[in-house]
Amino acid sequence: MLVFAKIKSVQQKINSLNKGTKIGFVPTMGALHRGHLSLIEKAKIENNIVVVSIFVNPTQFDKEEDLINYPKTIDKDLSLLKSVGCNIVFVPTAKEIYADNIKSQQFDFDGLEHQMEGKFRKGHFDGVGTIVKRLFEIVTPDNSYFGEKDFQQLQIIKKMVQKNQIPVNIIGCDIFREEDGLAMSSRNSRLTYEQRKAAPFIYKTLKQAKIEFGIKNALEVTEWVKNEFEKHPLLELEYFEIANEETLQPIENKKTSQKYRAFIAVFAGKIRLIDNISL
Ligand code: PAF
Repeated sequence: MLVFAKIKSVQQKINSLNKGTKIGFVPTMGALHRGHLSLIEKAKIENNIVVVSIFVNPTQFDKEEDLINYPKTIDKDLSLLKSVGCNIVFVPTAKEIYADNIKSQQFDFDGLEHQMEGKFRKGHFDGVGTIVKRLFEIVTPDNSYFGEKDFQQLQIIKKMVQKNQIPVNIIGCDIFREEDGLAMSSRNSRLTYEQRKAAPFIYKTLKQAKIEFGIKNALEVTEWVKNEFEKHPLLELEYFEIANEETLQPIENKKTSQKYRAFIAVFAGKIRLIDNISL
């Protein structure tokens, strides 16, 4: 496994590959867990080589505190990557990526960016768009893999690729869950013992909301979810929303011809957890 910190060196390596070598790319912010590894394993099957980037991207954090506290486990990450047969790891510094101008490009994602996470994390998706576009330019992948836990991010990256005509297939992968149902996330490692014990309530509620959606309208389901969280001593609901899977617009009238998904963001103390379920 080769590890590069410089754009020039990783590009040199990629340019030296035989023409037609299929490159699978998994961008990450490190603190890798089994969810990331499942993306890499899928990329291994579908490509000739797999590139993983580890970069805690400053421009996508709306809270400085969150950026500073983002878990960093580089040695463990590298040994995990080696164990799943990753070929190339790109670990740049912020200076390497942004030089002295740590700023996002402004994007128009046709309104996808104004829903849900966009309302609560100002500038977040411009930051994600900026770094993912930059990494695609550097790595020039054929296929790139993203987890559906960040479903809005996945749709936004698809939109960015389409609008900028970037020649890469964006592949969404199922949410990887702990045995108790909690969606895997690097942030889970920051939960206290009590918060971690409480957190599976999020997915449990989503699963029940899916059942409720079969017999109730979206407003009633939303009220039911709010009520469930109001009773919970450790988890605070930020939003629950049922939206069209493609446009991410909140549902108006349930139509059988459309696909819906329920999205949720919850605070456990200061740790913000998100999840979603196809309805
Ligand atoms: O999902 C993430 O970990 C990040 O948003 C990504 C896609 C690596 C961009 O920094």
